[in-house]
Amino acid sequence: IRVAVIFGGRSPEHEISCVTAGGVISAIDTDRYEVVPIGIARDGSWVLYSADPGQLAIVDGRLPEVHTSGPELAVPFSGATDLIVLEGDSSRRLGGFDAVLPLLHGPLGEDGTIQGLFEMMDARYAGAGVFASAASMDKVFMKALFTGHGIPTGDYVAVPDRMWRGERKRVLDDIADLGGTVFVKPARGGSSVGISKVPDASDTDAVTAAVEAARRHDPKVIVEAAVPGREVECGVLESLEGGAPDVSQPAEIHVADGFDFYDFEAKYLSTSGLTIPAELPVEVVAEIRREAARTFEALGCEGLARVDFFYGDDGRVYVNEINTMPGFTPSSAFPQMWAESGLDYTSLVDRMIQTALR
Ligand code: DAL
Ligand code: MG
Repeated sequence: IRVAVIFGGRSPEHEISCVTAGGVISAIDTDRYEVVPIGIARDGSWVLYSADPGQLAIVDGRLPEVHTSGPELAVPFSGATDLIVLEGDSSRRLGGFDAVLPLLHGPLGEDGTIQGLFEMMDARYAGAGVFASAASMDKVFMKALFTGHGIPTGDYVAVPDRMWRGERKRVLDDIADLGGTVFVKPARGGSSVGISKVPDASDTDAVTAAVEAARRHDPKVIVEAAVPGREVECGVLESLEGGAPDVSQPAEIHVADGFDFYDFEAKYLSTSGLTIPAELPVEVVAEIRREAARTFEALGCEGLARVDFFYGDDGRVYVNEINTMPGFTPSSAFPQMWAESGLDYTSLVDRMIQTALR
């Protein structure tokens, strides 16, 4: 069984995708699967990689990236999973593959775009389809779907480009009405890239600077009211038998000292830790797991997802967001939660491939 593993990509989460791929490639059972590693460089070119996962690891705090030195690939656009390798003026067929693991985070990878390409190629791929990917990438549409399904989530204000340019005063008033601390985020981002925490929603200058910072990544911004409480995550996997999705034990995030919130560095380059299973009252754990499955189904997800929560100081559970291709390095929360739930990393990777092959 031939499995194409695609990583890197054109989003700011390029390096995290490489680390994810390094972990997954080293865990794929090579007796059962032939791995075809395909890197997408920052410029969008597709290159054939060697299957050495070592070059996709974090070394001395330096994150890996896709280099364009490998043979370039032509991407077929219809009815062919038969990749073409370009070598100078000549080309050769790489042959077909049975499944794709698009281990890509963020825009142009986790947002339905590459999933659309796979649909056109008739390729089987792991993870959410076009719509679920797109809806889960865009925090504004995601929240609208949460609300439509009665999934509890925090208050927010959407700041589309047009409103920011044309109706800024009204937008700033709406944001001020959120009160207290707010998080200002690119609507379609990930790994906390471009996110600022503003301690006072009515501090117009600080909010404006934060919106401008987020707009460097995405013209569409979302401002979320902070939910005071604890941060908890939960893994979800599509059932292979067609029943309700499986849900992992939840994890609680402990942001390392010196970080104001769980930002990019705190996530990947610090000693931020996880408690698994999260030490929460049993009924809260049950509610989190129930809401995780409900969120997965509300968004129409497939394969895998990680649902992120707040357990508020008010005793209530809030869904913060869903990630359709969660960080998947061996030390990431998603695999660790599954390991604690009885599914080790190798089995989890196998399960991801199996859901793609279905
Ligand atoms: N976007 C990162 C990879 C995550 O959700 O884990
Ligand atoms: Mg995310």
